[in-house]
Amino acid sequence: MEFNPNYEPMSNPINFVKGEGIRLYTSQNEEYIDAVSGTFNISLGYSHPELVELLKTQVEDLIHVSSAFTAEAAQDVLDDIVASAPEYITHGWMRDIIGSTANEGAVKIANKYNGKSEVISLALSHHGQTLYTTAISGNAFRRKSFPNTVSVQHGVVPAPYCYRCPYSAKGAPECGFLCAEAIYDYVHYGSSDNVSCMILEPILGNGGNIIPPDGYFERIRKICDELEIVLIADEVQTGIGRTGYMFASEHYDIKPDIITLAKGLGGIGIPAAAILYRSQFDVFEKFEHSYTSGGNLLSLAASKKTVEIVSREGFLENVRTNGDLLGSMLQKLKEHYGHIIGDVRGIGYMWGLEIVDKNGDPDPDLTNRIISIAQDDHHMILRGSRYGFGNVVKVRPTLTATPEDIQEIISRLDKLFSRL
Ligand SMILES: Cc1ncc(COP(=O)(O)O)c(C=O)c1O
Repeated sequence: MEFNPNYEPMSNPINFVKGEGIRLYTSQNEEYIDAVSGTFNISLGYSHPELVELLKTQVEDLIHVSSAFTAEAAQDVLDDIVASAPEYITHGWMRDIIGSTANEGAVKIANKYNGKSEVISLALSHHGQTLYTTAISGNAFRRKSFPNTVSVQHGVVPAPYCYRCPYSAKGAPECGFLCAEAIYDYVHYGSSDNVSCMILEPILGNGGNIIPPDGYFERIRKICDELEIVLIADEVQTGIGRTGYMFASEHYDIKPDIITLAKGLGGIGIPAAAILYRSQFDVFEKFEHSYTSGGNLLSLAASKKTVEIVSREGFLENVRTNGDLLGSMLQKLKEHYGHIIGDVRGIGYMWGLEIVDKNGDPDPDLTNRIISIAQDDHHMILRGSRYGFGNVVKVRPTLTATPEDIQEIISRLDKLFSRL
């Protein structure tokens, strides 16, 4: 794929000064719909009133004290998060502020636990932008310009991308999950017998909203057990309700050893992150993974409230119901515009449209054009996969989006596609 240094999803720079729900406003009061919740982190919508009120009070009371004095508050939030997590996840760590370092923390935990160092990840994966997480992500384009990117022993196995199966197989389970079986190849022939962990996104987000087939995670868990590999689920995008379930790990029964969270945990864009794990992975000393702003009081307050709101009766059910509605409307668009939309896949409020050319091949240029036209002419913000190198348009409204909001997003998409 051509390197496109000028890619910028926002074709015309816009200064937004106000936001409410899925809508953003300029200083001239022009309205835009944000169909992707910021970078999928505005889980409760812009300016959710309950969070705004709470944070105003927190700002007035106390914004920050050293994490030496926030252990109790952090544990209180962790207790709430863990209460909604799969039952084997019992402990956690809240001294990060972003997903990249939470993922580094998860790998550090695995390394300390088993004394090994190598990491396996999936092709097309994205686990962050620090030097280390860039190095272990299965997407080389972000490290292209950085010759000093840390060199780590790291194996990439194929993504469970059935729509474009790397083995040209006809589908799972008949394929025998060759992409999962590739772990054996790396361990036996590529590694130094030193594999510590495998990190995967339950749904590859940046890679193109790729949803593994039924049976995939069961196979992965079995292989990790057999080879004594710690399994880390990077739920930075999928966690806290995005799929219509609090954790994708719960819905897909992934049974990971460690789960990382960030993005949506802060509700309205407040930076927040957490690492959750089974009890035997409670191995960190405080000095081993602790950032100045990690677990600051605004972050903790926002996380606690967000988890409380998402846990309310009916909240996730709404995401599932409205998500099904969004999915069926996107499928209808595919029926109309099948020469442009090759595939529609998703769950909850996490959907992707695979954009293809006349031969059915990936069309990143058209994908980027769609995103620009959406913004310039239809006042709707969308994002593409692989930061402009990919061919998937993502549609991921805030978890609070109503059926009317969904209808509006679809109507703008319909107008846009009818012009192409
Ligand atoms: C799946 C996944 N993991 C980790 C990260 C990194 O999170 P952050 O940007 O908060 O460091 C991202 C960010 O896009 C992500 O999508």
